[in-house]
Amino acid sequence: MRWLGGLSDHVRRIFIQEAAEEKEHEHPEQFQPPPPPKKLTPEEYAALPVVECRHLTKIFRDPRTGKDVSAISDINFTIEDIPRKGEFITMLGASGCGKSTLLNNIAGLEPHFPPTKGELLIKGQPVGGPGPDRGMVFQSYSSFPCYTILENVAFGLKLQGVAEKEREDIAADWIKKVKLGGFEKAYPRELSGGMRQRVALARTLAVKPRIILMDEPFGALDRLTRWEMQDLLIELWEKVEATVFLVTHDIPEAVYLGDRVFIFSPRPGRLIEIVKLPRPTEKAAEMQRTAKFAEIVNEISRKVEAADSHA
Ligand SMILES: Nc1ncnc2c1ncn2[C@@H]1O[C@H](COP(=O)(O)OP(=O)(O)OP(=O)(O)O)[C@@H](O)[C@H]1O
Ligand SMILES: [Mg+2]
Repeated sequence: MRWLGGLSDHVRRIFIQEAAEEKEHEHPEQFQPPPPPKKLTPEEYAALPVVECRHLTKIFRDPRTGKDVSAISDINFTIEDIPRKGEFITMLGASGCGKSTLLNNIAGLEPHFPPTKGELLIKGQPVGGPGPDRGMVFQSYSSFPCYTILENVAFGLKLQGVAEKEREDIAADWIKKVKLGGFEKAYPRELSGGMRQRVALARTLAVKPRIILMDEPFGALDRLTRWEMQDLLIELWEKVEATVFLVTHDIPEAVYLGDRVFIFSPRPGRLIEIVKLPRPTEKAAEMQRTAKFAEIVNEISRKVEAADSHA
């Protein structure tokens, strides 16, 4: 990991998969190391949920005031492992209700991880820190500025020890899939915001994570670019069959993308309601202009407003 020196903390933490093993934990009283894996038959393993979240609670201590801030409280949900078909979870809730805290806990990223109370299991194993089974896409463009697009997309594969030629081929393939063919040798500064988020998508998907965590990934994009990105995300997600958790403040985006929409109360965030929705049948720009879609958006908006009064 020494060769990551000189990079910003934000960029570093995305890639540092070995952090959990390398670092002394800051809250030893909270951290439970995972027990040794139990021997399971392939059938038993396949039947395990992808993610199980039990009574997850996170309380931060404000270092200036010494006061406790309760970010999320008693969050419970299960994501079943559906063969050849992942699930798309979108998350809605007021600013500060703990959506990023929950996402970062699933990612195993400090300081949100570890939780103060509760348990997070991935295929039956407690989350012990970051891992290559989980990939994260942030709102801000988190590419390495001094690396080309090809090098950025290949970076996670390099961390996994994939040989140079193979990782360049895989990266070039993903660059084409996110419709950036021809930009392999460009640098992030030469790309628009939408294009840089495509790089982030390619970089995340190239390592084939089981779980994709997206924190307001299209929040900085205009409506048309956002729709294009939603279409691209659906297209790619159908190829990778991962479980996706996507945080957004855009209710139409949550409705369009989500198989299930999780609605949270204001801080401390509690999971107030889970709404099941059908998969999109048309392109984002067409479907999101229909009266039927507007009706569902209105219904979800009312639920979000109701959750807002759950303080
Ligand atoms: N590192 C931290 N240290 C202390 N408090 C924190 C930390 N990170 C988050 N919090 C607090 O936890 C609460 C939840 O924050 P979080 O960022 O998870 O909310 P959010 O739902 O993602 O908000 P937004 O929609 O604005 O992104 C907030 O009150 C925040 O101040
Ligand atoms: Mg957030």
